Amino acid sequence: MINQKVKVAVLGAGKMGKAIISSLKPFGYYEIYATARSKESIEEIKKLGVEALSNIEAAKESEVIIISVKPNQIDQVLEEVSQYLTNKIVVSIVAGVPIKWINRHVREGYVYRAMPNINILSNGAITALTTNNNEEEKKKIVENIFRKMGNVVWVEEKLMDAFTALSGSGPAFVCEIINAFVMAGVACGLSKELSYKTTLELFEGTIRTLKTKSMSPSDVEDLVVTPGGTTIRGIIRMERGKLKYTIVESIKEAYERAKEISKNFDALK
Ligand SMILES: NC(=O)c1ccc[n+]([C@@H]2O[C@H](COP(=O)([O-])OP(=O)(O)OC[C@H]3O[C@@H](n4cnc5c(N)ncnc54)[C@H](OP(=O)(O)O)[C@@H]3O)[C@@H](O)[C@H]2O)c1
Repeated sequence: MINQKVKVAVLGAGKMGKAIISSLKPFGYYEIYATARSKESIEEIKKLGVEALSNIEAAKESEVIIISVKPNQIDQVLEEVSQYLTNKIVVSIVAGVPIKWINRHVREGYVYRAMPNINILSNGAITALTTNNNEEEKKKIVENIFRKMGNVVWVEEKLMDAFTALSGSGPAFVCEIINAFVMAGVACGLSKELSYKTTLELFEGTIRTLKTKSMSPSDVEDLVVTPGGTTIRGIIRMERGKLKYTIVESIKEAYERAKEISKNFDALK
């Protein structure tokens, strides 16, 4: 079953769609078709070594249809392909568009929502998946696809907006923090290159320590902080600058925006 080739259409192969294609292609279990609108995007699809088709052709041809257009583009795409979705697996990675909404266009099919992140590029994504059907075999097909891109968690649909904020937007937030560390290294006299290399190793090493030693962040902090030392001075300054509060509030802002997008779709029901 796992070795059987699965035909997958990526409708809207932009930043995320192309990352999905690049991640799935090397495994060879998947025959991938992709779509976009502009000539430039279609050329980019071809460069990835997959066939660029129209939405209708790609949907007709495939058993799994991944929709990766922007929220304001999903209706047009679903309307175009709706008659070819019967008994197909339809996976939307589109932020804020509820299964109920997608179901209006997929009368007899299997609808899933996925919220991955751009770390698909390194097969290091964490993808939240949700569905309201219980077809174990279909769920497995969807899970296998997203496992090729990193880790997977199944959640209730009501948590998808939280995943959009924390994990979907997350790589950009983490990169903001990494940029701040690099800037700090430069401010303390390191070259930008050395500061960047050091920062990446620092993040990677800290995560490895947390994961491999089953320690909590507070456990690691306790090993670094010494009374009257350098680290506690830095932590106190972070507290004064409301670092944790700012991060929490920033992610909550993204969450509020994700909820706003979802509400638009609720309102249109
Ligand atoms: N970016 C992220 O980090 C991220 C993370 C998680 C989830 N998402 C979700 O992923 C979705 C895509 O995001 P993105 O950043 O990849 O956006 P994007 O780069 O703008 O990609 C959207 C693609 O859809 C294509 N498209 C638009 N209308 C189409 C149509 N009618 N038929 C066929 N193709 C069409 C566009 O083609 P053209 O290029 O020709 O215009 C573009 O290539 C969004 O809904 C977002 O919520 C994004």
